Amino acid sequence: MTDMTVKAFTVWLTGLSGAGKSTIARAFGAHLDNLSLRNQVLDGDELRRTLCRDLGFSKEDRDENIRRIAGLASELNKNNVIAVVAVISPYRAARLMARQQCERFVEVFVDCSLETLTRRDTKGLYRRALAGEIQNFSGISDPYEAPQDPEIYINSAIQSEQESLERVRSRLEELGYLLAAR
Ligand code: ADX
Repeated sequence: MTDMTVKAFTVWLTGLSGAGKSTIARAFGAHLDNLSLRNQVLDGDELRRTLCRDLGFSKEDRDENIRRIAGLASELNKNNVIAVVAVISPYRAARLMARQQCERFVEVFVDCSLETLTRRDTKGLYRRALAGEIQNFSGISDPYEAPQDPEIYINSAIQSEQESLERVRSRLEELGYLLAAR
């Protein structure tokens, strides 16, 4: 395996709960490991148990969640670590703030229809949200402002994990963030 050095950047995966952000983020992190590129996956579900455990799901708390995570990604980038972020990040303005904070920033929209998400419902959260047991649930009873011009678009209702990973990898190469493997 040829070692590569690249200037660090942030890959920001946004999309509804259950769309596959964490799965793609972990697969991409493992791909970077294989290339000996230092990286850190920052996952919303995990960070809400640690750095962001005091936060809920109001707009204010979600904005604060994104502010902290973008700050962390930016610090990692400064230390030449690629940040791979997987958070719903439903508000456009907060994502723009993250983009400005991180400078080298690639937005990945992991799109998936609500119909597919409610049918798969891997964590059982959609059923509970639809039954009114969870309030302010993104896509059901809370907004999700879809990206209008993301650098990378994935539709996880029709693309497999492997296809999604390949899409992220090849687009990052095209955009000049990663060098083609030799
Ligand atoms: S964000 O909106 O602030 O970006 P984040 O990605 O950190 O959200 O956390 C989302 C995760 O929290 C979901 O994957 C889900 O497991 C859980 N969750 C619990 N309540 C909600 C809710 N009301 N809306 C969305 N996600 C929720």
